[in-house]
Amino acid sequence: MVVDFANSKTKLNLMKAFAGESQARERYSIAASFAGEKEIYIVQKVFLEIADQEKEHGEIFYEFLRQFSGQSIKFDADYPVDLFDSVLEYLKKSAKNETDEYEDIYDKFGKIAADEGFSDISNKFFGIAKIEKTHSEKFSKLAKLVESNELFKSNNGKAKWTCMKCGNVYEGTNVPEFCPVCGHARGYFVRNDICL
Ligand SMILES: [Fe+2]
Ligand SMILES: [Fe+2]
Repeated sequence: MVVDFANSKTKLNLMKAFAGESQARERYSIAASFAGEKEIYIVQKVFLEIADQEKEHGEIFYEFLRQFSGQSIKFDADYPVDLFDSVLEYLKKSAKNETDEYEDIYDKFGKIAADEGFSDISNKFFGIAKIEKTHSEKFSKLAKLVESNELFKSNNGKAKWTCMKCGNVYEGTNVPEFCPVCGHARGYFVRNDICL
């Protein structure tokens, strides 16, 4: 089926995706600030990195709408209110939102775009869905460590951490309150065994 782009569902889906990515970026920036206030800097860093990637996704979707520049596109949609009192809740809910994006939303949008004859756009939805899966995995991995209290401690023998400020590697079971080399707080240490 080939559909006129101006009257397609894909046009609306691109705008929904742009709005979704823009809000995700903003939510992650807010979550990053919260993690920074709690002095958990690896969580702050991951939220900031992913926020930047959401910006890139938003730009990719927006560019497809260039021919409608100067116009508005109207649609109905639901967006989450994610304001929490703990880093764990931010991580868990963000992981869930990312899962919804790749399993449900972008998968649907990709199929609709393919049905309507927009294979380029369809490929972008599927490609970005794959990235959202990695986002979900990163948030989940961090959530697990926070939940089991293992961000700065090891429950299974010695582990290694690297100070994000000076690069000092600490090996042991419990990260010291302050990096013995640069003096920055333990919140700057990141476990070497987590690949984010
Ligand atoms: Fe995204
Ligand atoms: Fe994402």
